[in-house]
Amino acid sequence: MITEILPVDDFSLELSAKIINQGGVVAFPTETVYGLGANALNNVAVKKIFSIKGRPADNPLIVHVYRDYDISSLVSFIPDYAKKLAQAFVPGPLTMVYKSKSAVCPAVSCGLDTLAVRVPSMTTAQKFLKYVNLPIAAPSANISKHVSPVTAEHVKNDLNGKIPLILDGGQCTGGIESTVLDCTGEIPVILRNGLVTKQMIESIVGECGEAVFKEGEAVRSPGMKYNHYSPNCGTAFFNCDEIEKAKLKFAECKSSGVNAYILCDADTAKYFDTDKILNLGSSEEEIAVNLYLKLREGEKLSQMIIAVAPKKQSGIMAGVMNRLIKACKKL
Ligand code: TXA
Ligand code: MG
Repeated sequence: MITEILPVDDFSLELSAKIINQGGVVAFPTETVYGLGANALNNVAVKKIFSIKGRPADNPLIVHVYRDYDISSLVSFIPDYAKKLAQAFVPGPLTMVYKSKSAVCPAVSCGLDTLAVRVPSMTTAQKFLKYVNLPIAAPSANISKHVSPVTAEHVKNDLNGKIPLILDGGQCTGGIESTVLDCTGEIPVILRNGLVTKQMIESIVGECGEAVFKEGEAVRSPGMKYNHYSPNCGTAFFNCDEIEKAKLKFAECKSSGVNAYILCDADTAKYFDTDKILNLGSSEEEIAVNLYLKLREGEKLSQMIIAVAPKKQSGIMAGVMNRLIKACKKL
């Protein structure tokens, strides 16, 4: 199969709708990462996503809809706090999990009685979703467990020959996946940190919980138990107070002929006397945008990425830390 990358225009939208209506899959841009989409009402189409990615069969998918799409046919109950949060943050990088109706096919939620719904804010994503006028089930458009894609080229690197079309909307402006929020209980509970932070949610509805995954316990969001986002090279992880250890590791690599790069923010980079730096930048937003970009750059340039965590680890950095640890720390 030839994989085409096309800019989002009338021609490619028409083509994407045709593919989706025929039960195929299309990669499309969002403000967070690129998604690999199929018709959420077609079980056979949704199953293709799992086989193309090599995704574990128990990890459910997010359903994407355009701004004015009526989700009342998909979900059974939307609590008041969720309505307030939607007013504040939707469209945007917030995925909300509700009790589902049976309209969506079983492969989407992998047998759970809930459905994760997201309305992406990126204009090109809105255009695609509006044009196809269907709920689109989509995970990130990477091979399972690899680094999520933030450009059309990244998608092509992972899925070339496996999908017919990548809609190219340029580089994603958010950089890490959406916040996943369980909206089935008394208060919202964060299942995955992202660009809509706990503090932002609390500022609207007062209370917000955070799920902690413990080995052996029932998982509320199956995706949490898998290692993810891993670059195809060696990795090492150091916290922000372990700069000396990171330096030692870098020196060790050098003396044993291993081509290593340091992945860190601009502040931390000052401590390293080398130009082999994958610099994530300074502001929280910048660091999030650069994270997957630099991990993908790093796996091409080097045999070993030595990641050093940023000092700040709350807010958007909570989401960044979660990805950085899963990508670079051998758990
Ligand atoms: O920003 C994003 O969320 C991107 C773009 C493409 O929208 N998508 C994305 O999808 O990151 P994926 O499949 O890589 O991650 C979806 C996460 C997983 O951790 C999964 O377990 C969780 O959402 N999830 C999906 N449906 C769920 C449900 N019904 N209940 C709990 N967690 C759910
Ligand atoms: Mg993913």
